[in-house]
Amino acid sequence: TQDPLVIFTPSGKRGRFPVGTPVLTAARQLGVDLDSVCGGRGICSKCQITPSYGDFPKHGVTVEDGALSEWNKVEQRYDDKRGLKEGRRLGCQATVQGDIVIDVPPESQVHKQVVRKAASARVIEMDPATRLYYVEVQEPDMHEPTGDLERLKIALKEQWDLDQVTLPQSLLPRLQTVLRKGGWTITVALHKSHEGGEQQIIEMWPGLTEERIYGLAIDLGSTTIAAHLCDLRNGQVKASSGVMNPQIRFGEDLMSRVSYSMMNPGGDKEMTSAVRTAINGLTEAIATEAGIRPFQILETVFVCNPVMHHLLLGIDPVELGQAPFALATSQSLSLSARDLELNVMNENAQIYILPCIAGHVGADAAAVALSEEPNKSDDLALIVDVGTNAEILLGDKSGVLACSSPTGPAFEGAQISSGQRAAPGAIEAIRIDPVTKEPRFRVIGCEKWSDEDGFWDLTAQTGITGICGSGIIEAVAEMRIAGLVDPKGLIGSAEQTGTPRCEAEGRTNSYLIHDGTEDGGPRITVTQQDIREIQLAKSALYAGARLLMDKREVDKVDRILLAGAFGAHISALHAMVLGMIPDVPIDKVGSAGNAAGTGARIALCNIGARREVETLVRQITKIETAIEEKFQEHFVNANAIPHATDPFPELLT
Ligand code: FES
Repeated sequence: TQDPLVIFTPSGKRGRFPVGTPVLTAARQLGVDLDSVCGGRGICSKCQITPSYGDFPKHGVTVEDGALSEWNKVEQRYDDKRGLKEGRRLGCQATVQGDIVIDVPPESQVHKQVVRKAASARVIEMDPATRLYYVEVQEPDMHEPTGDLERLKIALKEQWDLDQVTLPQSLLPRLQTVLRKGGWTITVALHKSHEGGEQQIIEMWPGLTEERIYGLAIDLGSTTIAAHLCDLRNGQVKASSGVMNPQIRFGEDLMSRVSYSMMNPGGDKEMTSAVRTAINGLTEAIATEAGIRPFQILETVFVCNPVMHHLLLGIDPVELGQAPFALATSQSLSLSARDLELNVMNENAQIYILPCIAGHVGADAAAVALSEEPNKSDDLALIVDVGTNAEILLGDKSGVLACSSPTGPAFEGAQISSGQRAAPGAIEAIRIDPVTKEPRFRVIGCEKWSDEDGFWDLTAQTGITGICGSGIIEAVAEMRIAGLVDPKGLIGSAEQTGTPRCEAEGRTNSYLIHDGTEDGGPRITVTQQDIREIQLAKSALYAGARLLMDKREVDKVDRILLAGAFGAHISALHAMVLGMIPDVPIDKVGSAGNAAGTGARIALCNIGARREVETLVRQITKIETAIEEKFQEHFVNANAIPHATDPFPELLT
């Protein structure tokens, strides 16, 4: 007779196993995600399953009573002590006796799918570098003069097949107390390097811990530092938070920070200490928000541009300010929190910094590539991460090119007369009536919509404080559509445009969007200088994209993805009217959300993704915009709105 058939749901995985096989063993052999921290000792209860009985025509089986073994002593003891939910069994104790259908509830699935990207529904399997392991350690014996650590290592080898385990010196003084307190049982958090080899214990608890362990995915940008706190067991984001990068006081953009370091001896140290302090503050804040203790944070992944990368690591970024833009290292880095003075999270927390692509194309671009996978795309994708610096990737299955382009902070609302960050009170979207030249807009944090399309006639509104990046892009594009601005970017006078909203301001004109002064608010205008700033920023972005297209010898891309916290909010149509992105059918422009942040979360949750991004980065062709003559040419032509020479046929359709 055949061995019993075991079918797991929801995965649908099935196989035949000899009578007496524990369900946990069958699950492991079939690659079914069934959790276990205690290694099948009936202590952790992570392996809970729900057997189903009756007829299952869909699966072609009938499950009879007795298809699983009766409760054994261990299961009984667990149920008496802590209670098992109705219908549940411990997968490590129940054994297969006949054909059976077994459901694995979500709480018991360790490899639960977690990271969902905005654009598509790609899901990332949980395979974190840091996991908890429970072991029973041999008590010391007068005749066996080995140390507690040595016996712990033997237990990890015997019970979990873990080799080459190390314990940092800082934990050694606690080891003996923890082992005795736990009655010779202990849970350790063990960090595995993605390169194999050593595995380090980074935290430990007496007995079987109920403690959860967490990781941080940090996108360290020039303007903002954004962090996600993730549960390392299931990848769930427990809290997200961000702070301004305090280095802004040393310079708005990257190059001004590099020059600050060049001009001021010790300037790099000041910036390093400022950013580390900010990360410590952010760690504290995010832990409080999630209601956890910061020492439960055992891992952190960073993505950042090369200058931020160097300053985080305490490396003077001066080499990045001059050709040939040499990085101190382009490889990924595995460090401990202590090395970076990140002393709010667990002191042994492990840090992983994604590799940089080139001197100007950082780990943030690598993270975007990991998240958006242009290297797996059938069609030619242009991915633009819009920020103070734009990271641009162009590619498909046959190869990927990357560059970065210095757009400056205008897209983030900086250096714009009424500019502000995307926060409550900021105008984020705008429409200008082509006939009356009157604007209507949408303000962040304002629930009051008067029009069906969500835009209101704002004259009566108060509390408007400025205009953010997506707002200014739309404003300039709408001004162009309404004929208030000519292709060169010049704002017309009141006579030329027929609206008193165009006001003379010295020798140029500006367009009044909102006069809040009566209510004590600011007067919000788009000045000629604002338009110039946007022209510079968009030309830099377009020229970068064009340069990659030249290298690839194409004059069209199949699709465009706008990424970045801000990129996700840009209207595709307005970006194209401005000539910020190349011509493509509008429905082929999508948003990738915060792709760099998503890439950081992927690398946090999946150790294999770290190997993947390291390989991918080596295969990417790097283009250095600063030394490409063509870049300057593209930049100058892109100054016109939408462009001096390139046609934008899609805009006409
Ligand atoms: Fe821990 Fe079953 S594996 S109780």
